[in-house]
Amino acid sequence: MRTSSISSSSSLSVVVVVVVFLVGSLLSIVGQHKAPGHAAAVSLQLQSLQMNSTISVDPESLDRASTDFGMLARAVPAAVLRPSSDRDIAALVEFSYSSARPFSVAARGHGHSVRGQALAADGVVVEMASLRGGGGGGERIRVCRELGYVDAGGEELWIDVLEETMKHGLAPRSWTDYLYLTVGGTLSNAGLSGQSFLYGPQISNVYQLDVVTGTGQIVTCSEKQEPDLFFAVLGGLGQFGIITRARIAIEPAPAMVVRWIRLIYADFRAFTSDQERLISLEEKEKMKGFNYVEGSVIMASNLTYNWRSSFYAQEDTSRISGLAAQYGAVYCLEAAMYYDYSTAPSINQEVELLLKDLNFIPGFQFKNDVTYMHFLNRVREGELKLHSRGLWDVPHPWLNILVPSSRILDFDQGVFKTILKQNNNSVGPILIYATNRSKWDQRMSAVVPDEQVFYSVGLLRSGTVDDWKYLEEQNKEILRFCDEAAMSYKQYLPHYTNKADWMKHFGHKWDLFVERKMRYDPKALLSPGQRIFVSSFAQRASM
Ligand SMILES: Cc1cc2nc3c(=O)[nH]c(=O)nc-3n(C[C@H](O)[C@H](O)[C@H](O)COP(=O)(O)OP(=O)(O)OC[C@H]3O[C@@H](n4cnc5c(N)ncnc54)[C@H](O)[C@@H]3O)c2cc1C
Ligand SMILES: *[C@@H]1O[C@H](CO)[C@@H](O)[C@H](O)[C@H]1NC(C)=O
Ligand SMILES: *[C@@H]1O[C@H](CO)[C@@H](O)[C@H](O)[C@H]1NC(C)=O
Ligand SMILES: *[C@@H]1O[C@H](CO)[C@@H](O)[C@H](O)[C@H]1NC(C)=O
Ligand SMILES: *[C@@H]1O[C@H](CO)[C@@H](O)[C@H](O)[C@H]1NC(C)=O
Repeated sequence: MRTSSISSSSSLSVVVVVVVFLVGSLLSIVGQHKAPGHAAAVSLQLQSLQMNSTISVDPESLDRASTDFGMLARAVPAAVLRPSSDRDIAALVEFSYSSARPFSVAARGHGHSVRGQALAADGVVVEMASLRGGGGGGERIRVCRELGYVDAGGEELWIDVLEETMKHGLAPRSWTDYLYLTVGGTLSNAGLSGQSFLYGPQISNVYQLDVVTGTGQIVTCSEKQEPDLFFAVLGGLGQFGIITRARIAIEPAPAMVVRWIRLIYADFRAFTSDQERLISLEEKEKMKGFNYVEGSVIMASNLTYNWRSSFYAQEDTSRISGLAAQYGAVYCLEAAMYYDYSTAPSINQEVELLLKDLNFIPGFQFKNDVTYMHFLNRVREGELKLHSRGLWDVPHPWLNILVPSSRILDFDQGVFKTILKQNNNSVGPILIYATNRSKWDQRMSAVVPDEQVFYSVGLLRSGTVDDWKYLEEQNKEILRFCDEAAMSYKQYLPHYTNKADWMKHFGHKWDLFVERKMRYDPKALLSPGQRIFVSSFAQRASM
């Protein structure tokens, strides 16, 4: 087995030669047809590129970088870069950009995409993890208490950002459900969770970024400085630059305790109107509401395998399963209130006040008190459990869509009550929660439905080697249903393979998206796995 991983020690510079057989200059949009898989027209050799980072072409490295959490897509890169600094990332991109024979470059955060978005067929995958300093004295996560922000490397995991900021009694305010994702990865999408209705998605909570553009320049950008690049990159699907640092808003961390509530509904209308009421309390009624609001669908089929289910006592699980069996599906509204030991005496009252107007099934209200850390990191426990049963590294044919509130009843009828009803063996959570469009800055690349309130719906299902195709068919059926019903939904973590679909996805933002691409990544080198743009060299290579 030939391994040519070249590690550098302190002063050794690594020499890399890159030879790409086909040359291109102008950017084009993803093609109508792809030639059969011989994209291997691009290959790498070694030539001199001065850097301290490691370039690997050994089979294990290439294999690891060829797939992702979804296990649905596969694309083998020509090489893997393990950078030791953002300068080396810039040097790599600059090298490709200036080369007569450019190659594509994909940042790989934690590889938790599900459809190959962080892959780079015949290009170079940049393993961002090698920059990770984490907390513990690492230089890459730095808290500025006075000005209320944390500077974190784009490669850092949110769990490490949390642990580091908590040392100062501070924490970011907008999260994802799962924290083993990178700062650069979620900011390239949006970063959604039950706090989004209050603070907006994670991309609404960023003050500044350092970015390596598609020409290999390192640019610091913010709302004031290079605002066009700043907004392009937020929700930009990795198309405009590689985020090497983000300055993220933080606030005093809620003192320690979270009252965590789950309420069960049989009536979908009651479930959604309660969600919408809860997310509007502060704006509309000037009343303190919950700090977090989410929801999920519990299908009759199975509650036990859910990675989010470590909440109920055993007897509650059976009661809820019974109810789900009776109705086919029930809905669970999940909310949380952060509180302090000093305010603890009033927590019961405050929560009761909120619950008394809600229309869940009497007797089906459940609570837990957990630490703030445990609450934010709640999915980890489920992950480890699934891991131990061999159910984590399996295909994940996930579908995430944003559905306008005006159509959410139709969605329930057509999707939960019809298409998913026959689901014999659905494993994995189905999330559904309301959020407010006003918290999204429309200058950002991220696209959302054109309606004030919309729902984030996540069908986070796990397949087996045998049945994931069946789930994929079901996903297509769901999208078909939404299209035919003219729902004006948007995919989140979007996946399309042709230009017409991407144009429709971006809608009126498409022209700007293309313009920004020409400006910041004119050779379409970055994140080719999104399949939005194809550099002309790659296109020709595949003909
Ligand atoms: C178990 C699980 C739970 C999840 N929960 C949530 C959730 O609650 N809310 C939510 O919003 N999402 C959630 N996600 C989705 C998650 O946001 C995406 O997978 C996202 O891509 C982050 O993963 P990553 O850091 O591994 O990025 P990757 O998959 O490695 O990369 C994603 C894309 O961003 C690009 N990229 C990566 N790093 C950078 C960078 N530094 N600069 C520029 N581009 C970059 C890549 O090239 C790729 O195109 C979840 C995913 C999983 C697996
Ligand atoms: C490589 O690392 C050494 C030691 O850390 C440093 O002095 C040198 O400037 C680095 N070279 C490059 C090209 O980054
Ligand atoms: C959404 O936010 C806007 C602006 O803050 C506010 O006026 C509106 O009432 C909110 N809507 C809901 C349903 O929360
Ligand atoms: C859920 O699935 C597991 C594994 O397939 C099975 O053992 C269990 O009986 C199922 N539970 C229900 C309620 O169907
Ligand atoms: C579920 O049912 C469908 C047909 O309705 C079938 O094709 C599929 O194999 C079933 N899956 C499992 C895991 O039983």
